[in-house]
Amino acid sequence: MKLIMLGAPGAGKGTQAKMIAKKYQIPHISTGDIFRANIKSQTELGMKAKSFMDQGMLVPDEITIGMLMDRIKEPDCAGGYVLDGFPRTIPQAESLTKALSDMGTAVDYAVNVDVPDDNIIGRMSGRRACLNCGATYHVAFNPPKTENVCNICGQNLVLREDDKPETVKKRLDVYHQQTQPLIDYYKKAGVLVEVDGTQNMEDVFKSIVKVLGAE
Ligand code: AP5
Ligand code: MG
Repeated sequence: MKLIMLGAPGAGKGTQAKMIAKKYQIPHISTGDIFRANIKSQTELGMKAKSFMDQGMLVPDEITIGMLMDRIKEPDCAGGYVLDGFPRTIPQAESLTKALSDMGTAVDYAVNVDVPDDNIIGRMSGRRACLNCGATYHVAFNPPKTENVCNICGQNLVLREDDKPETVKKRLDVYHQQTQPLIDYYKKAGVLVEVDGTQNMEDVFKSIVKVLGAE
């Protein structure tokens, strides 16, 4: 199963993608997580991405598309994957469609997690992220067992640099301009699944599984 998660920053794409990956036993591929891992280990790719991310802008397509195409050719992707945060622009979506069609395949579902902008800012300011293993928490909606410590790997949790309110506003603008048009793109392709992302996490997940099937 090949799946795409669509939705505004903070809509819960990462939260749902992790649950989907676990249930359907497919890799969870987050371009944001890949960039953050590269920033942490100070690679050339990471240094290029950082300046864009810190400003709430998108990393240029020339960098992002190649990186993602390499990732989905890895052996663990043979049985499908859930893409979280890619595609984010029409050229990214077109590149993915073309690459998959060259391999004789296509995206099965594009799940749009719909959350109005008003809800987003609160979610982001309460989010805490583990930059070591990629786990995410929320101080009120999904707190870690021990305050500020990752349940999975025990590292300290942080407020992401780009989760400060001014940067979140910029990310929302960029989302509406560049990413929202993908909803129509995948509707036309006949694979769009719309989910109400304002429900609690478990109910959002149930709505997704209802469409994807139990497997
Ligand atoms: P990325 O890391 O993808 O960030 P994003 O899309 O802005 O999304 P987030 O990770 O912030 O939110 P999410 O939807 O995953 O929400 P989450 O599940 O954490 O990208 C970061 C940056 O990298 C971009 O700005 C860009 O610069 C660059 N980049 C990445 N991909 C790129 C691409 N393809 N092209 C170009 N540039 C790219 O949930 C948010 C919070 O809410 C959490 O605290 C969570 O616990 C909580 N929560 C989740 N669900 C619920 C719920 N149902 N109810 C209550 N709280 C909830
Ligand atoms: Mg995320």
